[in-house]
Amino acid sequence: MDTKIIKLDTDNIDYGELKIAADCISAGGLVAFPTETVYGLGADAENPEAVKNIFKAKGRPADNPLIVHVDNPDTAGNFVKKGTFENKNIRALAESFWPGPMTIICPKAEKVPDVVTAGLNTVGIRIPGNMIARELIRLSGKGIAAPSANISGKPSPTTGQHVINDLYGKVDIIIDSTNCDVGLESTVIDMSQDIPTILRPGGITREMIEDVLGVKPRVAGNLTDKDEIPRAPGMKYKHYSPKGEVIIFRGKAENISREINKRMQESIKAGIRAGILATKQTLCYYKYDNVFSMGDLEKPETIAAELFNLLRQMDSLDIEVIYAEAVSENGIGLAVMNRMGKAAGYKFINTD
Ligand code: TXA
Ligand code: MG
Repeated sequence: MDTKIIKLDTDNIDYGELKIAADCISAGGLVAFPTETVYGLGADAENPEAVKNIFKAKGRPADNPLIVHVDNPDTAGNFVKKGTFENKNIRALAESFWPGPMTIICPKAEKVPDVVTAGLNTVGIRIPGNMIARELIRLSGKGIAAPSANISGKPSPTTGQHVINDLYGKVDIIIDSTNCDVGLESTVIDMSQDIPTILRPGGITREMIEDVLGVKPRVAGNLTDKDEIPRAPGMKYKHYSPKGEVIIFRGKAENISREINKRMQESIKAGIRAGILATKQTLCYYKYDNVFSMGDLEKPETIAAELFNLLRQMDSLDIEVIYAEAVSENGIGLAVMNRMGKAAGYKFINTD
């Protein structure tokens, strides 16, 4: 398939080009587009044939449902069961966090095709914060069903180039724009049951949700533990994995760096290509090639923004073993550790 690449600047959108992408969606095509979380691969949510092509292009299992993206709360109302937004908690979340990195699982409207929801009676809805994403949705006049725009199993794409690497030749259009601000997929919160439950942690943190709802949301399983019960169907699949093996080290900073240094020296002796994911504060402990800072420990959002990019970079350097430092699970740190845990197949080593 010929893939057209459209370069767009968020601050100065070329509407002629964006309209080509929007028309492609309404005609049943596949368009990869930027959002503030990760790039998405979109199709008209009410066109089952188009949505099936998303699964084909990504190699995604059919039992993993997609999020429907809309550009305003009224359209959101069309995809959920009548009266859903009369629920005061759902309304409060939508008013507080949309547009933004939060997907709300609601009872679905009849018209949402089974291929979107994998046959569930609920649907995930989100209004993205990224202007290009919202304008694409508005111009297409559709709800856009979209998973992350990566080949299934790889880290989600946070730059246009990541999408081009994964999907060039497999989709109609790739909109290549700014890097994603948040860098991790949206928070998924299940509001279809009595107790609000975070199925996937993300940029809207459990602390922020508690502030709005006045109660602590439940967090499904222990999201950094492999024993978690996969509540979001997608959580059971291997995800975010680079080719190299990832091992995560927990504990006091000095113990972590001592252990990683020891392992790094063993790897070098054994002729294994190893790399280290450290932080701005701990970079100085490691004197080797292939040592990277994920970001600033005091600004965990910088680590979230860089993680998937670094995992992909490790692949392009053919790194066989990645020694990664754990970070605090407060705020967005919970989402960071959830994705790192998955990338590592939950290989955690306690160094204290
Ligand atoms: O930030 C994001 O959410 C990005 C951008 C493109 O919006 N999208 C994204 O989609 O990450 P995807 O398909 O890679 O992940 C969607 C997650 C999966 O874990 C899926 O199982 C879960 O949301 N999900 C979707 N619909 C659901 C439903 N009705 N019930 C429970 N989980 C659902
Ligand atoms: Mg995904």
